[in-house]
Amino acid sequence: MNEASVAPSPAPLLVVQGVTVQRGGVSVVRDVNLTVKEGEFLGIVGPNGGGKSSLIQAILGILKCHKGTVDVFGYPPMSKPVSGKVAWVSQAAANLPSNVRLTVRELVQLGLLKQRTWFRPFQRHTEEVDQAIAMVGLEHLAHRDVAHLSGGQRQRAVIARALATQADVLLLDEPLVGMDPPSRNSLLKLLDKFCHDHGKTIVMVSHDLAAIRQSAHRIVYLEGTVRFDGSPPDFPSLEALAKLRGIDDVHGGHHHDHGEEHCGHDHDQFVIPSNLKEAE
Ligand SMILES: Nc1ncnc2c1ncn2[C@@H]1O[C@H](COP(=O)(O)OP(=O)(O)OP(=O)(O)O)[C@@H](O)[C@H]1O
Ligand SMILES: [Mg+2]
Repeated sequence: MNEASVAPSPAPLLVVQGVTVQRGGVSVVRDVNLTVKEGEFLGIVGPNGGGKSSLIQAILGILKCHKGTVDVFGYPPMSKPVSGKVAWVSQAAANLPSNVRLTVRELVQLGLLKQRTWFRPFQRHTEEVDQAIAMVGLEHLAHRDVAHLSGGQRQRAVIARALATQADVLLLDEPLVGMDPPSRNSLLKLLDKFCHDHGKTIVMVSHDLAAIRQSAHRIVYLEGTVRFDGSPPDFPSLEALAKLRGIDDVHGGHHHDHGEEHCGHDHDQFVIPSNLKEAE
């Protein structure tokens, strides 16, 4: 058979298959299966230490999978065809060292450094940089030193840096931390717009369950392994989760009628995460 004549079948954008990630010899992510389609907005929630950041880093190829595979656009992460297609805003991205003197504009430009070539000099990206700054609503602060921004504004600046790369996939780890409700809502609207109008795919880790519920198309609850994967309306209410935990705490984990209709599987292992908050 002539392989070259076979048309490639459209691969799902992100496929995580049987992934286990070890840190310090411990499996912190276990046997995770996840498929993300183009234009999807996936929210990942779960307790501290549940493996959310580790999973994101495995998707990026920063952490090696002990078992299983990750494919982005049908290729391993870090491979050439994937280069520039995935942008990451790490959990600590907004914690910039205070001795770094950078304006918002310069910070956003930094996101484009790796795309700079002799043929595409830095200056050519002015438009992308301005656009990204405008998208996060920081035009008026573009020339301000990032050290003089509020936490939420700094968060927007690092998101603008990711947006400026024109990546198709955005991996955002706790992007809402330190944001007041109006900023948070406008950022969520912006992310939603990216999915709908620009076909971007977003994977967002957050402790803000209300925000995830309101904006994500799908929620994954990760506690070492995937305990829930479904649409926001099917995600158990905090009350149901609390009830489950109460029953677990008091009766040692037997009898789990509550919430069965909500999460369908493995709900007896559902534990309300101490840091999972339902925002106003
Ligand atoms: N560099 C590291 N070396 C060893 N273990 C680590 C390292 N980083 C994280 N871990 C451990 O891996 C587990 C998963 O951590 P991870 O950061 O992925 O969780 P998380 O769900 O992102 O938590 P959080 O909500 O607090 O951000 C935790 O038990 C953590 O202690
Ligand atoms: Mg984390």
